[in-house]
Amino acid sequence: MTELINIAGLYDLKGKVALVTGGAEGMGKESCRYLASAGATVAVADINEPWARATAEEIVAAGGEAKAYEVDLVQESSVVSMIDAVRRELGRLDILVNVAGLQDREMLEATTLELWDKLHNVNLRGSFLTIREAARVMRADGNGGRIVNISSMGSVHPVFGGLVAYNSSKSGVNGLTRNAAYELAKDGITVNAVLPGNTTTAGQARSPGPPVDPEMIKHMLPPLGRTGKPSDIASAILFLVCPASEWITGQTLIVDGGHLNK
Ligand SMILES: NC(=O)c1ccc[n+]([C@@H]2O[C@H](COP(=O)([O-])OP(=O)(O)OC[C@H]3O[C@@H](n4cnc5c(N)ncnc54)[C@H](O)[C@@H]3O)[C@@H](O)[C@H]2O)c1
Repeated sequence: MTELINIAGLYDLKGKVALVTGGAEGMGKESCRYLASAGATVAVADINEPWARATAEEIVAAGGEAKAYEVDLVQESSVVSMIDAVRRELGRLDILVNVAGLQDREMLEATTLELWDKLHNVNLRGSFLTIREAARVMRADGNGGRIVNISSMGSVHPVFGGLVAYNSSKSGVNGLTRNAAYELAKDGITVNAVLPGNTTTAGQARSPGPPVDPEMIKHMLPPLGRTGKPSDIASAILFLVCPASEWITGQTLIVDGGHLNK
């Protein structure tokens, strides 16, 4: 006789501690809400400490568990002390979700080294630093772990101009994901990436760059007929940090409403 499967258990994060960078707003904030709703205690990390604190306070007011941490991903010492503080204050570290990122745009010939470095320092070097430090803690504790990096659909195929530096940094995130997954698998730590398509957030709208051609925007709607919502990305992240996905690692999951499939 067969038994029904405890599907809720496959999405249960009770007793887990999850660190989310970029938790002050946008996809990062929504991811904090999703992980807390699945039972995790969430460390909401961001350079924007007041907004990270607001995210944590909203989760606690709703009955979840969360605490804010200020971090500047560009500063190695800031990342090291943040991971240290999360492990010390919340008792463990099971999940790392790298959402923080900059989305400045500039056409190739106008891209300065300063812009190139700015994007790579946050998007790629920052993710490397958090993974390195989290991996040290996860390995030492011996409980395995889950790491998810937010890349971009543009990292595998250009979608419009002005994203040379940005998409290069995100292509680096894909390589970082696969190589970290390879090295950490023997310790039961999975590393995957989610590659969002065009997702409506205030941060994206504020990002500096040349005006986008209105003709091009008409072609930006993916086959599923709407732009992405932060919850579309948060659900993919949730899957990749839950027991349901324990045999998935080194993958780059495109979540774009079918955009690259046109
Ligand atoms: N919005 C989109 O269409 C889209 C598409 C593909 C990929 N992405 C990626 O998804 C992620 C989230 O995008 P979003 O639109 O929600 O962004 P957002 O601008 O709303 O949020 C990014 C967060 O990162 C934080 N941050 C920036 N620099 C930091 C630093 N040095 N240290 C710590 N925190 C820092 C910001 O304060 C902010 O809270 C980013 O990595 C972005 O590149 C976004």
